[in-house]
Amino acid sequence: MPISTSIKEKRNGRPTNDAKPVRRVFIKSFGCQMNVYDSQRMADVAGREGYEEATKVEDADLIVLNTCHIRERASEKIYSELGKIRELKDDRANAGRETTLVVAGCVAQAEGAEILRRQPAVDIVVGPQNYHRLPQLLRARRRGVGAVETEFPLEDKFDHLPASAPEAIRARGVSAFVAVQEGCDKFCSFCVVPYTRGGEASRPAAKVLAEIERLARAGVGEITLIGQNVNAYHGRGEDGRSASLAELIAAAAKVPGVLRLRYATSHPNDMSDDLIRAHRDIDALAPYLHLPIQSGSDRVLSAMNRRHTVRDYLGLVARVRRARPDIALSSDFIVGFPGESEADFNETLALAREVEFASSYAFKYSARPGTPAAEMEPQIDEATKAERLAALFGLLEEQRLAFNRRLIGRRFDVVFDKPGRRAGQIIGRSPYMQSVYAEGDLSLIGALAAVEIVGVGPNSLIGRLVAPASREMGLIARFAGRSPT
Ligand code: 5AD
Ligand code: SF4
Repeated sequence: MPISTSIKEKRNGRPTNDAKPVRRVFIKSFGCQMNVYDSQRMADVAGREGYEEATKVEDADLIVLNTCHIRERASEKIYSELGKIRELKDDRANAGRETTLVVAGCVAQAEGAEILRRQPAVDIVVGPQNYHRLPQLLRARRRGVGAVETEFPLEDKFDHLPASAPEAIRARGVSAFVAVQEGCDKFCSFCVVPYTRGGEASRPAAKVLAEIERLARAGVGEITLIGQNVNAYHGRGEDGRSASLAELIAAAAKVPGVLRLRYATSHPNDMSDDLIRAHRDIDALAPYLHLPIQSGSDRVLSAMNRRHTVRDYLGLVARVRRARPDIALSSDFIVGFPGESEADFNETLALAREVEFASSYAFKYSARPGTPAAEMEPQIDEATKAERLAALFGLLEEQRLAFNRRLIGRRFDVVFDKPGRRAGQIIGRSPYMQSVYAEGDLSLIGALAAVEIVGVGPNSLIGRLVAPASREMGLIARFAGRSPT
């Protein structure tokens, strides 16, 4: 789920030495939710080193770009960003201020030392499995040693990361990501993730739960468990055997203060029965499932090495909907995969029509160096990709608006997380993932409050606060758009 966020963490870490000028950090995150999470953890590391928040990149002594390599455009954006920062760095140097520039994330992992060659203003290149070593890399840099750190280390970075301070957690809001697994062993033929993030690895359940408890104690009510292949989770359970994602969700739902749980991103082949049942049985688990299919053509799915068919996917959707009739389903699609014919693309449109997604993402295929699909023939021309993207996007947009309109008149609980632009307005998220605007008191921020949907905007729902709704599943299902009533 692509998002671009600036992380400007409020640090109140250690007391600063008055004699020394305050050092400030600015971290900009590109790409997926995992990068947002990693950026926050890097902010924690920098905080432990005494760095305070920079509200503007111009004020930062340490600038970190946490990069995304998933599509060519995402990667190239980094170099234009680095060009701008180079000018800034030069201006600061002329004013006698030193700036350290770090490239982290998946471009760092994929391109390593090449980044230093293309942009000499970069001081440190650090991959997603190495950022816990930022303090050592910064010290080496101060001794004049530039560094590239992209090994997959034997040590577990999570064992070396500081816990987020309660003030930092609160500054980040009432909704938080928690990484439960990383990496992927699926090797879809278009995807760089298995190369940039490495093989699948799950964190022990006890460590994940301790992180959730810390977040909940600091006031976080909504937790999204994240991983590149989150439903492949198989961390060590508290009884020593391996725990499934469903078991982890059940344990997380019992943590006091946890109001709502989500998870992303899932692969259809790892959608186990116990996870489907969790959508029926666990109240705190939101009725939302991001389950990418990528294409509606079996021929293309096979070339993509997805290892499932359209029929498998539709069967899975039916089982999930039996367990949770109102569930909001979302997918990722790639159009213009090598060899995709007009007929293949029409099958993708047909699949989307059949499923009726609540919201989805669609991308033009982007050839990534080193992946098998980059060598496949024929590559599809840009104009065809753009045409197919527009057609699919149009359909998905209709489906999104239709799903939202079906919610008018329904009641459900919203986790309110921020004030709206207008005074007296608050914004939160529905169980189905849409933003909800309502007139309400700021004291509701951080709470779960019952709302009746009275209208839809282009990108949001308009709600009215009502008496507390029951969180009982049956009630929610009765109110929901796709219920059988
Ligand atoms: N080109 C286009 N889209 C891609 N994705 C992954 N790799 C590529 C690529 N090479 C999309 C997939 C995935 C989402 C995160 O990004 O749809 O689910
Ligand atoms: Fe990439 Fe496929 Fe793994 Fe998803 S499942 S991260 S698309 S290789």
